Amino acid sequence: MSAFITFEGPDGSGKSTICNLVYDELLKNNIRTIKTREPGGTRISEKIREIILDKDLKEMDMRTEALLYSASRAQHTYEKIIPALEDGTTVLCERYVLSSLAYQGHARGQKLEDIRAINDFATGGKKPDIVFIFRTNNSTLARKDQACYDRLECEGDDFHKKVRDYYNNLEKEENYYFIDVNQTIEEVFGDCMKILKERKILWNL
Ligand code: TYD
Repeated sequence: MSAFITFEGPDGSGKSTICNLVYDELLKNNIRTIKTREPGGTRISEKIREIILDKDLKEMDMRTEALLYSASRAQHTYEKIIPALEDGTTVLCERYVLSSLAYQGHARGQKLEDIRAINDFATGGKKPDIVFIFRTNNSTLARKDQACYDRLECEGDDFHKKVRDYYNNLEKEENYYFIDVNQTIEEVFGDCMKILKERKILWNL
């Protein structure tokens, strides 16, 4: 049995670090696993990523942005995620549909139902088994080197506060797990592993 596990949260909230630690731990337990990310994860999606995050493309319309994220996601879902899951491989993915709801929907001010609709089309409604939602009230962007800022990271503090608020105000759904990231890396990792154990991701394989 395989599982589809996603990591969601604001920029700089530690998703990559924790995803890498979880990946190593699953491999140690002989669970066949791949690690991937959005936007990107396939040849085509990585090319779309370059366009989306290009700082020079200041004129990009927010609808174009939303459609490009979902186009990248469609390719990633059908080329990589679904085939891996069908092959019995567990998939760890940094960001998925919730990122589009947070950034293109709530933060950009586009209708959530529109963003949901294009993403339903892009993914065929494929849902993760587990969504780790990293929560913090602090700005996490500062943790990053400013020279590395991409087009989205260059948005102002208001934009990033809206992203945080979206994640912080989500209501619990069956596959949502809220993780407080104002803790040490070891503690955040521990919280994630506890949930994977409870959900028997580690031991019923
Ligand atoms: P990501 O590679 O996760 O950046 P980082 O590793 O720096 O957190 O994502 C790049 C940017 O794209 C990030 O600012 C979040 C944004 N994003 C969206 O706006 N919508 C989406 O659907 C996704 C997947 C990412």
